[in-house]
Amino acid sequence: MHEHRSHPVPAEWAARALINAERYAQMYAQSVADPDSFWAKEMHRLDWMRVPTQIKDTSFAADDFRIKWFADGTLNLAANCLDRHLDTLGDEVAILWEPDHPDTPSRTVTYRELHEATCRFTNLLKAKGVKRGDRVTIYLPMVPEAAVAMLACARIGAVHSIVFAGFSPDALAGRIADCASTVVITADEGLRGGKKVPLKANVDAACAKVRVDTVIMLRHTGADVPFVEGRDVDWATAIAAQSADCAAEEMGAEDPLFILYTSGSTGKPKGVLHTTGGYGVWASMTHQYTFDYQPNPDGSRPVYWCAADIGWVTGHSYVVYGPLMNGGITLMFEGVPNYPDFSRFWQVVDKYQVEIFYAAPTALRALMREGDEWVTRTSRKSLRLLGSVGEPINPEAWEWYYNVVGGGRCPIADTWWQTETGGHMITPLAGAHALKPGSASFPLFGVQPQLVDPANGHVLEGATEGALVITDSWPGQMRTVYGDHARFIQTYFTQYPGKYFTGDGCRRDEDGYYWITGRIDDVINVSGHRMGTAEIESALVEHDKVAEAAVVGMPHDIKGQGIYAYVTTMDGVEDTDDLRRELIAWVRKEIGPIATPDVLQFAPSLPKTRSGKIMRRILRKIAENDVGNLGDISTLADPSVVDDLLKNSPHAK
Ligand code: WTA
Repeated sequence: MHEHRSHPVPAEWAARALINAERYAQMYAQSVADPDSFWAKEMHRLDWMRVPTQIKDTSFAADDFRIKWFADGTLNLAANCLDRHLDTLGDEVAILWEPDHPDTPSRTVTYRELHEATCRFTNLLKAKGVKRGDRVTIYLPMVPEAAVAMLACARIGAVHSIVFAGFSPDALAGRIADCASTVVITADEGLRGGKKVPLKANVDAACAKVRVDTVIMLRHTGADVPFVEGRDVDWATAIAAQSADCAAEEMGAEDPLFILYTSGSTGKPKGVLHTTGGYGVWASMTHQYTFDYQPNPDGSRPVYWCAADIGWVTGHSYVVYGPLMNGGITLMFEGVPNYPDFSRFWQVVDKYQVEIFYAAPTALRALMREGDEWVTRTSRKSLRLLGSVGEPINPEAWEWYYNVVGGGRCPIADTWWQTETGGHMITPLAGAHALKPGSASFPLFGVQPQLVDPANGHVLEGATEGALVITDSWPGQMRTVYGDHARFIQTYFTQYPGKYFTGDGCRRDEDGYYWITGRIDDVINVSGHRMGTAEIESALVEHDKVAEAAVVGMPHDIKGQGIYAYVTTMDGVEDTDDLRRELIAWVRKEIGPIATPDVLQFAPSLPKTRSGKIMRRILRKIAENDVGNLGDISTLADPSVVDDLLKNSPHAK
């Protein structure tokens, strides 16, 4: 649990990195003491149409709440990702695309090609009536066209809402409806690990439930899919008819850029809304500093690979916006780590001479289990820096990543952040901080973490453990929950008034390092994907044989957390193995494969207090098989319920 090993900053990193220890200390102090001057300088990493004169205008106080950054500035983020690089990098690589199967031809897209494709696609959106402020849903696989679609929205000022291509038609329909987007961009099929994902069919099924006027479809696998006249548009044919000339809209810094749905403790997923200026500065700055993204000594640009899907925030900030704003080379990978075999990641690293590699611990743990041989048979000499994201990385996986994958040469940036934060918040910087395996280490510029006592909100000082809050705004912060500002305030700012509550628990050690311990609300983190237990429960109770359901997380060797569901069936329904399989398949269909319960236990009744509240603490303990330690159960309306749960737990068998 308490890890004491530490890896000092390598001398070559201290000498060459953009941020060394001294610079970190000086910049961090300034970012907190005088944010206006700090950000007035940092903001020049972007090209502004009108340079902001107002920098930070924020308050988390209930009676004076506002979050505005660079408010009187104007800019366009697509122009920042594309146009401004044309003179210097026009014929250089922007995107390297590696397909699902190594025998399929890969692709290289230059900045000029990406610019042209984006301009044509923007004109197509305009021709379909899309205007600034309109919402556009993107449901695409990991192909360069996904970046084109995002950037085209940004160019026109439309707000993109990307839905992960693994979500079900129902989940897609819910997200389309919530933000009332009448345009959906998709592909015939996706490909992952050799399996086809029926994207267009899913869109068609979603369209049966919600109003969609236009579906733009990319032909990717060439599958024969139904085409609805008047609604569906073939991507390639349609853009061929469009001009490659398209001016970028002048957007206000606080105009929305995108919505991304994410799970919370309660209710349906919320549309996290990010705006243009602050998000742009944050994604660009964090990508540059965390990954030390600067030209190599020979002047070449490092090949950078973030293995996340564009359907998650990591894909937004660190596959597309961050690297492209910084004129980088971003590798987009369509496939999965274990197909065709467990060497796939490292073969791709060798193929493109990747220098910076960024992935989730869940993938690393799955590969670690298969043995070192899959890794060591590849070279990986090009690697310089490794990153981790999405969930706590256990020290064992950290050491494996460090020693086996990185050959003991590459520092690891364990980046803690959230969909809500827009970009990295707490992470070691390779040139500045000695590494402690499993610790996200120190806050980035402008980030002011604090640990508070979850029971009473009292600030905890020194080496301690508590709920992680952030006491002041940073530019990349989400601005609202789309269509529900009250929910935004309620979710993040009421628990500990005047502070942003992250939902995470955290420890701070005697050296001031931060160690994220995981969610302390009803969110679980499955393979680095956020799931709300409430969402899975509501999918279960929609089944006509289910009376009640409660879902909790359970420890899982590979996924970090697994999904443990307790289900009470309707009177007269028999609890059979067939029904268990049916219910598991049902959740998979309702939400998507990532929500598939790992364990489903039938429970004649759930442990409730006299006021009818489910005591989740007990359910968690049973799921964790920590039953010697159930705590006080005397407040239960019927304590005998617990015996029955214990008797029927899979751990008991
Ligand atoms: C967890 C993903 C430990 C955390 C970028 C957070 C982490 C949630 C780390 C956000 C990390 C993310 N160490 N935990 N390095 N990074 N988390 O919105 O619980 O999908 O609250 O954003 O992931 O998940 P989200």
